[in-house]
Amino acid sequence: GKELTDVSNLVEEIVGSEVSIRGRVHKNRLVGTKLFVILRESGFTVQCVVEETRVGANMIKFVKQLSRESVVELIGVVSHPKKPLTGTTQQKNVLPRRSLLNLPLVVEDAARSESDIEKSGKDGKPAARVLQDTRLNNRVLDIRTPANQAIFRIQCQVQIDIMICHYPNRVLEIHTPKLMAGSSEGGSAVFRLDYKGQPACLAQSPQLHKQMAICGDMRRVFEVGPVFRAEDSFTHRHLCEFVGLDVEMEIRMHYSEIMDLVGELFPFIFTKIEERCPKELESVKKQYPFQSLKFLPQTLRLTFAEGIQMLKEAGEEVDPLGDLNTESERKLGQLVLEKYKTEFYMLHRYPLAVRPFYTMPYENDSNYSNSFDVFIRGEEIMSGAQRIHDPELLEKRARECCIDVKTISTYIDAFRYGAPPHGGFGVGLERVVMLLCALNNIRKTSLFPRDSQRLTP
Ligand code: 4AD
Repeated sequence: GKELTDVSNLVEEIVGSEVSIRGRVHKNRLVGTKLFVILRESGFTVQCVVEETRVGANMIKFVKQLSRESVVELIGVVSHPKKPLTGTTQQKNVLPRRSLLNLPLVVEDAARSESDIEKSGKDGKPAARVLQDTRLNNRVLDIRTPANQAIFRIQCQVQIDIMICHYPNRVLEIHTPKLMAGSSEGGSAVFRLDYKGQPACLAQSPQLHKQMAICGDMRRVFEVGPVFRAEDSFTHRHLCEFVGLDVEMEIRMHYSEIMDLVGELFPFIFTKIEERCPKELESVKKQYPFQSLKFLPQTLRLTFAEGIQMLKEAGEEVDPLGDLNTESERKLGQLVLEKYKTEFYMLHRYPLAVRPFYTMPYENDSNYSNSFDVFIRGEEIMSGAQRIHDPELLEKRARECCIDVKTISTYIDAFRYGAPPHGGFGVGLERVVMLLCALNNIRKTSLFPRDSQRLTP
């Protein structure tokens, strides 16, 4: 048969030519002897005008009874609509000309559709929790919506841009094990399992192995892979499995080199998304309206102490050597936006006590550390730091943080053979996309989310 044309490619230049398209029946409306079928493909729609005079009464009858979401294929000529069409429906018609014989390519007869999901809240009103759960329970249908199609295209673009940035900088892509003898980040958020009779856990991050790669002279490495956290709480921003984007690199002079990399990488990503995904951003905005992210070409860097000071001046009660809670982070995000006109910034020199055991203490004041967090719209997307490369100090810090040193002895030993000063960072892909599009829930940016209450579909 004829090669298929994507619905998104039905552009001005091909008006008048014959195309073959495949899509889902989005809507179906009979007006007189004409049937208007809106076909949807990957979030884009086109109106197909099926006329009885061209295709015959039987075909009209057949098309009319097709259930919504059926997949059909048709051949027709592209034309301009008489009246402008609304929404993502393109300003084009496809007039099916040939007999439409290959129309009944129905691969699936979806009983429920997006609008059925919309209706499933109480009294037909969408109730937030119910709606979210219903959507996720029917995720295969849910991801067909234009906004969701767009979200995952944006996510893919973010990942591509991160790679584009890394490869020319001679950063080596690595893959580290997800089955581990001990936890890497500490704390209770660990999935424990039995590894052929030996206690084991799922990797909470590639942290230990990416550092061991540096000990193995790999100099600059990155990894994109699954990260597992046995989170107990059910929040808008925590998943039990997410995609981690990790970098680890040698430091030449100062840990600010890591922040320099972050400061270049993200403005690049934000700019590229606007350039490469304008239609996708539109689609998301249509369903979940948001303002484009405000960021500075030169990424703002504040010290943790400066952040605390700003919060105090605004009347907030904060512990100068404690961690910021979600509310304080949000509040600081607002203050930073007002003062510096940016929704993307870094906060560095965190108190040592709130950072993982492997974090390098600040050489001039061991209450603090050479570490940083990065925020978009007042929420954390990344944490990073210089790491301890002295095995004695590393072991001491692990013990102080109540880590069972036996389970990570091969990691600590890696530093006994000599290691350069190094550091890196870890980003959560779902969080970046959630905050880039100002979405209210991380489940919207995870294809099949896993959280404290969900292991299916
Ligand atoms: O802050 P985290 O725990 O840091 C690490 O894993 C370090 N090893 C990174 C490093 O190189 N220093 O996690 C890093 C990022 C967070 O900033 C957040 O974006 C994301 O991972 N993240 C989560 N995303 C979704 N659900 C969760 N439960 C997450 N926990 C962390």
